[in-house]
Amino acid sequence: LARGVREPDLAGRHVVVSAGGTREPLDPVRFLGNRSSGKQGYALARTAAARGARVTLVAANTSHLPDPAGVDVVPVGTAVQLREAVLKAAADADAVVMAAAVADFRPAAYATGKIKKKDGQDPEPVVLVRNPDVLAEMSADRVRPGQVIVGFAAETDDVLANGRAKLARKGCDLLVVNEVGERKTFGFEDTEAVVLAADGTETPVPHGPKEALADTVWDLVAARLS
Ligand code: CTP
Ligand code: CA
Repeated sequence: LARGVREPDLAGRHVVVSAGGTREPLDPVRFLGNRSSGKQGYALARTAAARGARVTLVAANTSHLPDPAGVDVVPVGTAVQLREAVLKAAADADAVVMAAAVADFRPAAYATGKIKKKDGQDPEPVVLVRNPDVLAEMSADRVRPGQVIVGFAAETDDVLANGRAKLARKGCDLLVVNEVGERKTFGFEDTEAVVLAADGTETPVPHGPKEALADTVWDLVAARLS
């Protein structure tokens, strides 16, 4: 094989990747969102397709990114919509990688008309409710034996300890832990991470393109599938 061309080691496999960041609407013109660019999820989708997988990409608010060739893209907006699309696609999937930044909370109420200022009055507080935790739910109720489930976590402070605790709490097989900071992760082309596995192993991924991290994730997934 030529350099840069991968063995089709995911041929015959169906993988689901979520990407982007959910938006939780307050009214027809406003939402609560996050800074996820979607680039890591798209890199995962492209690299999986290049390795022969059938790929479903559940894409939350990524209209700024071109659809990867040969990938089935399912656009979603909110966490509830993302959950529905991921669970549906996961029913026959060999692996699910949750790279999307899913909002933990959504506004308790949606105003069908635009929220207006009222003269001399303070605004109403925004009341939030919890969103479903898609990764924890899928990890707890495995729909397919042997399905490999991967989460992503952006952490600050004691990054590895936070990551280990999160991996245990979520119950997934692999957790990709990024350290976030001023000039790290969000929207940048390059990334650096450690992939923590439920079996206790740690795979450091040096600073580099998001495709390189994606290929490491698929290496670890492929090893668990075979
Ligand atoms: N995730 C999810 N559903 C949610 C929130 C998060 O599926 N409602 C997934 C993300 O896609 C990611 C992983 O869980 O793969 C970790 O997300 P993170 O926000 O780091 O985890 P939380 O449990 O929400 O922890 P925190 O309180 O630190 O935000
Ligand atoms: Ca969260």
